[in-house]
Amino acid sequence: MAVIPVALAGRAYDVVIEEGLLARLAEAAAPFLKGYASGRAVPFVADTNTHRLYGAGVEADLAAQGFKVDWFVVEPGEDAKTWGVLEQLTDWLLALGVTRKDHVFALGGGVVGDLVGFACAITKRGVGFVQLPTTLLAQVDSSVGGKTAINTAAGKNLIGAFHQPSLVLIDPLVLATLPDREMRAGFAEVLKYGLLGDAAFFGWLEANGAAVLARKPAALEHAIATSIAMKARIVAADERETDDLRALLNLGHTFGHALEAETGFSDRLLHGEAVALGMVLAARYSARRGEISSADAERAARAIAAAGLPADLPALGLTCDGARLVEHMRHDKKAEATTLPFLLLRALGEAYVARDVDLADIAAFLDAELTPLPA
Ligand code: GLY
Repeated sequence: MAVIPVALAGRAYDVVIEEGLLARLAEAAAPFLKGYASGRAVPFVADTNTHRLYGAGVEADLAAQGFKVDWFVVEPGEDAKTWGVLEQLTDWLLALGVTRKDHVFALGGGVVGDLVGFACAITKRGVGFVQLPTTLLAQVDSSVGGKTAINTAAGKNLIGAFHQPSLVLIDPLVLATLPDREMRAGFAEVLKYGLLGDAAFFGWLEANGAAVLARKPAALEHAIATSIAMKARIVAADERETDDLRALLNLGHTFGHALEAETGFSDRLLHGEAVALGMVLAARYSARRGEISSADAERAARAIAAAGLPADLPALGLTCDGARLVEHMRHDKKAEATTLPFLLLRALGEAYVARDVDLADIAAFLDAELTPLPA
C-alpha cells in the first residue's frame, strides 16, 4: 500500500494505491460517506463498462455498511464530455439534493473523471468528489491534479475548471480487465515521468516495463506510485500551471496533439500513443538542437517501441507534410506565431520549456521524420 499526499494548502488530499481498494470502498472512503448515513443515496458516475464490471460489487460493499447507491451511467468515450451530458449530470445531482459537503464518486477513466470533476466544480459552486480511476492513464495522470473539463466544437478540454478531488483511490486490480492497447497507452504517461524528471525511474522502466505491462503487482504498484509522487510534487508547487513546472507534464503533448488532430482524434491513434510518439519526436528534436545525444534520443525511442508503442512517424501512414502538422499545433494554441513553447529534453530525465523554437524548423524536422528510411 502507498499513500501519497498532494500537499495543497487548504485542499490537501491523499492518493491511496492498494490492490483490492474497490472491493472495500466503504471502508477506504468512509470519511466521505458520512453525510449519506441518513439514507440519502450516494451519487456514483460510471460508464457502461465500469458500471457493468464493478457496479454490483460497489453496491454490495456499500449496502453492507448501510449505504444506498444511485448511478448516473454514460456511454464510454469522449462523447460523454459534452454540454448535453454535463447538463443532464448537474440536473441529476441537483435532483438528488447534493450539498457542498457531499462527495460524488467518479468510477471510470479520464472521461468520467474529467466530466464529474467539472460537474462538481460548478454545481452549487463546488461539491466534493472522489476519484476511482479504472485505466492506467487515469490512475497515473488525469485523476490527480484537479484539471477537469468537457470538449466543445472549438476543441478538447477548452471549457473546464481546476477542482481538486478530496480523495483518489487507485486499485491496480481493476487494470486486469483493461485492454492491452489501453494499458500500453497509459504506460506512455508512466514513461513520461521518467523522461521528464527522473532518469533512475526511466532506467527502472527500461528494465521492468514488461513486468508493469503484464500487471505484475509489485512492479505495477511501484510504477503507479512513482508516477503519482512526481505528479503530486509538481501539482503542489504549480497547481494552475502558472510557471513552467506543471507544463513539464505536457512532454510529448504538442507533437502528440498534432498527430491526434491529423488522425481525427480517433481509435487510429489513442492519446497515450500520440504522447509516446510525441516524446520520441521531442527527444529527436532535442538531439537535432544538440541538447541531448542522438544515442540518448534513440534510447528513449527504443524504450517506447519496446512497450509496443509507436516510435516512428512513417508507421502511422500519414499523407500530410510537416507544415500541416505545424498548422495543427498553431490551431491548438490559437497562435499565428512563428514560435510556440516546446517541451524538450536537456537529458533523459530532465525536460524544460524551450521558447526559442522556430516553427519552420519544426516543419523541416517533421518532413525528415515523415520520410521512411531506405530499406
Ligand atoms: N496532464 C497534465 C496535467 O495534469 O497538468
